[in-house]
Amino acid sequence: MSRVLELDNVVGGYGDTQILHGVSMHVDAGEIVVIIGPNGAGKSTAMKAVFGLLKLTGGDVLLDGKAITNTPPEKVVRYGVCYVPQTGNVFPSLSVQENLEMGAYVRDDDFTPRLQEIYEMFPPLYEKRSQAAGTLSGGQRQMVAMGKALMLEPKILLLDEPTAGLSPKFRGEIFETVKLINKSGTPILMVEQNAKQALGIATRGYVLVDGKNRFEGTGNELLNDPEVAEMFLGGGKQQVLLEKVAVAKPVTGKSAARKSPTGKPAAKKRSRKKSGA
Ligand SMILES: Nc1ncnc2c1ncn2[C@@H]1O[C@H](COP(=O)(O)OP(=O)(O)O)[C@@H](O)[C@H]1O
Ligand SMILES: [Mg+2]
Repeated sequence: MSRVLELDNVVGGYGDTQILHGVSMHVDAGEIVVIIGPNGAGKSTAMKAVFGLLKLTGGDVLLDGKAITNTPPEKVVRYGVCYVPQTGNVFPSLSVQENLEMGAYVRDDDFTPRLQEIYEMFPPLYEKRSQAAGTLSGGQRQMVAMGKALMLEPKILLLDEPTAGLSPKFRGEIFETVKLINKSGTPILMVEQNAKQALGIATRGYVLVDGKNRFEGTGNELLNDPEVAEMFLGGGKQQVLLEKVAVAKPVTGKSAARKSPTGKPAAKKRSRKKSGA
């Protein structure tokens, strides 16, 4: 399988704050790759790093084996990377069709056949093509956002939490849609908070903690890993714990030792705040 996208030891952040401390991951042709991890781990930041929305101070982003590190977004799009951010990913006052047409803005060929294909992939969007995108349900708005990105027939699609805020029913629909898009030939790199479902459809996955790789494996390996399950696949109580861990960790990096398989709150020992023991 050929390598479509690779992050090779990527380092970067915002201003003077380093968020990604050497993140490595890749997506091969045909894959759905999922990134999970606690809030603030740097998952969205890793996506922005690919899309040129972040100044990288180390490492490389490679597309089809060629470095595109620190390439501005408008160029990254032309190279065939499309990115659907978590929010603000449609023009609410424009119609569904206008949104899809906007997605094709860098194409100078006839995109009507592609528009047809998108409607075939998302039949509800055809029915609602004249309706303002802002009036659609959350799930259908997410479909518009994905359809818009697909207008460019990208080499790879980046999705940041496509099911955020959706009811379980719509969540399921979005995961089905992601599978469909992938089947049609587009590799996908997706950040997801609904880890169990996302890993269920993933070829492979990465667990990012504290701006670093923590676990990786096939979707099944991660689903069946007791430590991953304990930390990331639990219900409400675990989520709360995750938030605590995320808040409690210093940004300096050298704190990978906080393994908490027993689920004891990490914030218990207040006195030991400095990194390096
Ligand atoms: N635009 C920004 N400017 C400064 N800091 C940011 C910005 N976006 C995110 N951060 C910080 O970077 C860290 C990682 O954020 P993010 O990548 O959004 O995490 P995740 O997507 O894993 O929840 C967090 O500490 C967050 O506060
Ligand atoms: Mg995020």
